[in-house]
Amino acid sequence: MAKRLNVLATGGAGFIGSHVVVELIAAGHGVVILDNFENAAPDVPARLGRITGVDIPTIRADVRDKEMVRRALGRHGIDAVIHLAGKKAVGEAVAQPLLYYDANLGGGVALLEAMQESGVGKLLFSSSATVYGPGAAPMDEDHPVAPSNPYGRTKLMLEEIITDAVAAGAIESAISLRYFNPAGAHPSGLIGEDPRGTPNNLFPFIAQTAAGRHAKVRVFGDDYDTPDGTGVRDYIHVVDLARGHVAALSHLMAAGMPQVHERFNLGTGRGYSVKEALTTFSRACGFQVPYEIVARRAGDVATCVACPDRAARVLGWRAEMTLDQMCADHLAFQREVA
Ligand code: UD1
Repeated sequence: MAKRLNVLATGGAGFIGSHVVVELIAAGHGVVILDNFENAAPDVPARLGRITGVDIPTIRADVRDKEMVRRALGRHGIDAVIHLAGKKAVGEAVAQPLLYYDANLGGGVALLEAMQESGVGKLLFSSSATVYGPGAAPMDEDHPVAPSNPYGRTKLMLEEIITDAVAAGAIESAISLRYFNPAGAHPSGLIGEDPRGTPNNLFPFIAQTAAGRHAKVRVFGDDYDTPDGTGVRDYIHVVDLARGHVAALSHLMAAGMPQVHERFNLGTGRGYSVKEALTTFSRACGFQVPYEIVARRAGDVATCVACPDRAARVLGWRAEMTLDQMCADHLAFQREVA
């Protein structure tokens, strides 16, 4: 097995972070969570304890609190940081851009400073496919970037800040992981995504509708240039996504990789339409989840699918789980939290 590392996971109690924590521990690493619990349930660390059998040190702090981050890095002998903390609602980012620049860029800069001051040189950053400009074909990492909203711009800007920090030697090396559309939940049903308020994303909305919390799923447009007219996305099981982090961490820690910032797509390479997602989720539930076709949502594109080949080639990682598994696991979690 690879060397045991001590990893600080900012945002480690969130949807993706909590799954990353589970897979890091399964791979034999030690983890410390730093999270402000603004968008995470207070019992996530206890649930992670039940899944992993490990009592995971958890620091309730904001990543903008540089002093707390610096103390966490020193006290726990941290070898690498996975930075998942941040705000992620597109609509909110459009309405309150300064809040997003403060949280996502302010947080990223504070973290980089704390790492530099503590001599922790390895960073994995939770970026997004939202940095890419439109395109119908599977997108590789060289696809032109052109984020369409302030949230996406915070992801791209922090990638660029990280590039500058690595070039200047403030930190040693970094990887940005560009997530496509995470879905599903841990098969235990103990952790998953349960957004506060009305969800914007498709999967949580379908799951809440199946649980009777909404009358219908609104399908945003069926006149796109796609096989059935509804939007096509590259949904990736969150456990696959989490395992991609473990693979990226091994690559980041490998000897002979100084002063670089690499980017990798984490997606499956396979797109599914909104209608296919509804059909598959309905099959998992055993009944048809009600829906209606409504107008397109502003800012949506027809298709967004990854070319995941670089991650396969360099990291030796590929997504393995199916859309059926995403639906079954999401449903199991929804039943647990509902
Ligand atoms: C959205 C964000 C993206 C973010 C990603 C995280 C926008 C414009 N983009 O991507 O920045 O990184 O979430 O997962 O918000 N849909 C419906 N009905 C719904 C919800 C969604 O038909 O109630 C459709 C959408 O039109 C789209 C697909 O489902 O075709 C997926 O939507 P969503 O889950 O919101 O993800 P993205 O828009 O791809």
